[in-house]
Amino acid sequence: MTILVTGGLGYIGSHTVVELLNNNFDVVIVDDLSNSEKFILKNIEEVTGKKPVFYPFDLKRKELLSQVFDAHEIAGCINFAAYKAVGESQEKPLDYYENNLFTLINILQEFKRRNLSNFIFSSSCTVYGQADEQPIDENTPLKTPESSYGKTKQMGEEILKDFATAYQKKVTLLRYFNPIGSHPSALLGELPLGIPNNLVPYVTQTASKIREKLSIWGNDYPTADGTAIRDYIYVVDLAKAHVKALQKLLDETSETVIDIYNLGTGKGSSVLEVVEAFERANHVEVPYQICERRAGDITVAFANADKAERELGWKAETILEEALRTTWEWQKYLQTRI
Ligand code: UFG
Repeated sequence: MTILVTGGLGYIGSHTVVELLNNNFDVVIVDDLSNSEKFILKNIEEVTGKKPVFYPFDLKRKELLSQVFDAHEIAGCINFAAYKAVGESQEKPLDYYENNLFTLINILQEFKRRNLSNFIFSSSCTVYGQADEQPIDENTPLKTPESSYGKTKQMGEEILKDFATAYQKKVTLLRYFNPIGSHPSALLGELPLGIPNNLVPYVTQTASKIREKLSIWGNDYPTADGTAIRDYIYVVDLAKAHVKALQKLLDETSETVIDIYNLGTGKGSSVLEVVEAFERANHVEVPYQICERRAGDITVAFANADKAERELGWKAETILEEALRTTWEWQKYLQTRI
């Protein structure tokens, strides 16, 4: 059975392709390499011993997309292809709306035209904003995200709900908390473009002396140590959830399905706890300085992921230290490539 994976050479996409191949799905990847590199394809083959089909193009090119659907019998799609830098989205909102939403609509138009179903969408806990209560479950009221990136995720969810309702389709919206870590082989991981915005890539580059010091954005939050709290979920656990969600969609007998799942560990960790766990796991030092809060940051977000456990039989298994150990192995691998 063939699954289209857009953005399949990206961070979460590449890990998910590995899990799909390991579960005997055939995979067709479309990725424009705007935030990934070709060697990831070779590494996926090395890890799995299988070769996914790969098309390097931008999903805004409708005619090329249509040819992919002509060439393969697509049983479902997992859509990772999107821009994802929160800060950049504030400077270039139109690029974010165009890239993240036009590409989504192009794929859905093909689904409609060809009478296909089974669509999984990468959403984010950003759709909850600063929730009034923790942990956050799927019924927590949504708030308009501050960033244009976040808005593309919320709008993407709405587009998919309408798509499922109007055309009797099966869709799953997966709301990720903070993905971290790398494949245990150290052959796949996150490839931050330029200076990393996210915590763990910055910590990793600081430990390997590419960056001088980590800036901790605020230690005056109302938390135990004053730094902000997030739910850091290991990327391989996250990837496995996609296969479970896909299996459930494929098995659904109803024509119309709109499933929503939070994917997190259920445990919040502060920025300082992450830094300390990284140092402990890898026996390296991470110099840091305390700075002002970063604009737009929330104080705390962690998941109630019970619904995913109940309905998908999925649960995060990997502890923070272990995830951070794989990140360090990946960083060492990247340095051998320079
Ligand atoms: N942080 C630092 N220093 C850094 C980077 C981050 O102190 O150099 C802190 C942040 O202030 C925050 C925490 O580490 O408190 C996590 O920051 P990230 O940038 O790694 O992650 P965010 O929670 O801000 O963003 C993530 C995803 C987004 C998503 C958002 C939803 O990266 O895609 O969650 O809240 F939109």
